[in-house]
Amino acid sequence: MKQVFGVFGDPVGHSLSPAMHNAAFSALGMDCIYHAFRVTPEKLEKAILGAEAMGFGGLNLTVPLKEKALKLDFISPDPLAKRIGAVNTVVFGKSGEIQGYNTDGIGARQALLDSAVEITGSKIVVAGAGGAARAVAFQLAADGAEITVVNRTEERAVELAREISAAPLSGKIKGTGLSGLKELLRDADVLINTTTLGMHPNMDAAIATAEELHSDLTVFDIVYNPLETRLLREARAAGAKTISGVLMLVYQGAEAFKLWTGIEPPVELMKKTVVEALQ
Ligand code: ATR
Repeated sequence: MKQVFGVFGDPVGHSLSPAMHNAAFSALGMDCIYHAFRVTPEKLEKAILGAEAMGFGGLNLTVPLKEKALKLDFISPDPLAKRIGAVNTVVFGKSGEIQGYNTDGIGARQALLDSAVEITGSKIVVAGAGGAARAVAFQLAADGAEITVVNRTEERAVELAREISAAPLSGKIKGTGLSGLKELLRDADVLINTTTLGMHPNMDAAIATAEELHSDLTVFDIVYNPLETRLLREARAAGAKTISGVLMLVYQGAEAFKLWTGIEPPVELMKKTVVEALQ
């Protein structure tokens, strides 16, 4: 019988995870299927326990369930998920234990490494202070980067940096308002956009323009819909190196796949599948 995997969220109809994971299962000849399920926060507990009872192979959680999952007492979060404050991957253990992981930060790190970007000692500006920024900033600060979180609502950036720096880190982190962005960029090695600017249907917006960017910078936009964001176009016009959000999506998924199955998935095929679905 096919083993079922899934993503729970609301809305979840446009999720690219089913296409990406089903392509991997099929290429590896695994008798598995991955499906998207609309689950509201009120039903999260029942849905996860139901999936466990039905022998699901594993789950991803997306908006608006990631933070809530951390609070469910039957899920044991791993230390990183606990620190990030959100679970995006659920693993069902052999003896009935249910573990929660967060692979978003690992996905961002792998996207940078894939593009040969040095993390340790780099000056990285993270734009935005929501859930995605939290996962990315926590991981990269732990990896030894010098992070500045820049956000429209300055207090959120300051609070995020404060919380992250409460943990032992090899890097550094601070938070500031958007007005400081231009100056920070002059001296930065990497800009990571985690805001919703540029995301469908707000496609004309970008956190920075070509004049504010420079050719020694790597610009990583975690937005992947559209594939070509305004920020990536501005970055190319400035001669900067660019990284698409597709890579973070694929690598967070690949990490989840490994946690569920212990098998290395075909990331190139996953990338190709996601890009084709977005075109
Ligand atoms: P997620 O949890 O998915 O990362 P979120 O918590 O909704 O999403 O965060 C969205 C981010 O985009 C926030 O940092 C938000 O800034 P505020 O904290 O000031 O709201 C940022 N953002 C959204 N629209 C923006 C805009 N027009 N200009 C600048 N930043 C914006």
